Parts: sequence; C-alpha cells; structure tokens
Amino acid sequence: MSTDELFAAAKAAMERAYAPYSRFPVGAAIRTDTGAVYAGCNIENASYPEGWCAETTALGHMVMAGGGRVCEIAVVAEKMPRIMPCGGCRQRLSEFTTADAKLHLCDTEGVVETVPFSSIFPRAFDLESRA
Ligand code: THU
Repeated sequence: MSTDELFAAAKAAMERAYAPYSRFPVGAAIRTDTGAVYAGCNIENASYPEGWCAETTALGHMVMAGGGRVCEIAVVAEKMPRIMPCGGCRQRLSEFTTADAKLHLCDTEGVVETVPFSSIFPRAFDLESRA
C-alpha cells in the first residue's frame, strides 16, 4: 500500500470518529512490516477521561489481528494540519514501532511532512533497555 493509500485509510477512519465532546475528529492508519494496514478513530466518552485516541484504536485492531511491527504511521485531523500524536500515543506506538518507522503528518489533502518516529519520541521508556 502506498503512502497516499495509508493517508486515505487514516482519513476514512477520521470520518468514523466519535468525538461529540471535543468535535475534533482524528484518524490514524498504521502499516506493519508485512504490509498490513490498520486504521482507527478517536472514541470519546461522556466521562471525558475515558475517551481514547485514533492511534490507540488502530493499535487495538493490529493486536487483535495478530500483532505486528509498525513501520509507517499516518495521522490526520480535519481541524489541525500536521497533527502530532499525543504523548500517551507516542508511548503506545513505540511499543510496536520498528527502529526506522516513519510518521506522516497530514492535513485533509494528504501528507504534509514525514519524520522519523524516533525523532518525536527519543529515549522511550522501554523495559528491555533499562540501564
Ligand atoms: N486525539 C487523538 O485521537 N489523537 C492524538 O494524537 C491527539 C488527540 C483526540 C483525543 C480527543 O478525542 C480529541 O483528539 C481532542 O483532544
């Protein structure tokens, strides 16, 4: 799947966002090193802290489909060009990313910027690298 298609999967997921409280729909799509793609939207709750992010939904789909290593991520929010994954999602994504995973920051038209995931989450908390 091309980067444009990964973006399209993120945007389609954004259309499914359940965000009646923030009115800030977000979509994310992740591609694994086997080429599988999983997408997700944010899902909010009347008890506000119980809602969760689009990236987290996408990871849930990946794990339930058998897991994988994430090598490419696209995130889009209609109200914010170049949305960045929140801190919690950076940690959750880092559990599954490959060392050279790419993050595509998008607006509603497509990818605006691509950065290494490692550049936005250096020195992640990781139980295997305890010194
Ligand atoms: N949100 C995401 O889905 N992903 C992020 O990386 C940042 C924030 C959602 C959470 C909430 O539903 C809405 O955006 C406003 O914060």
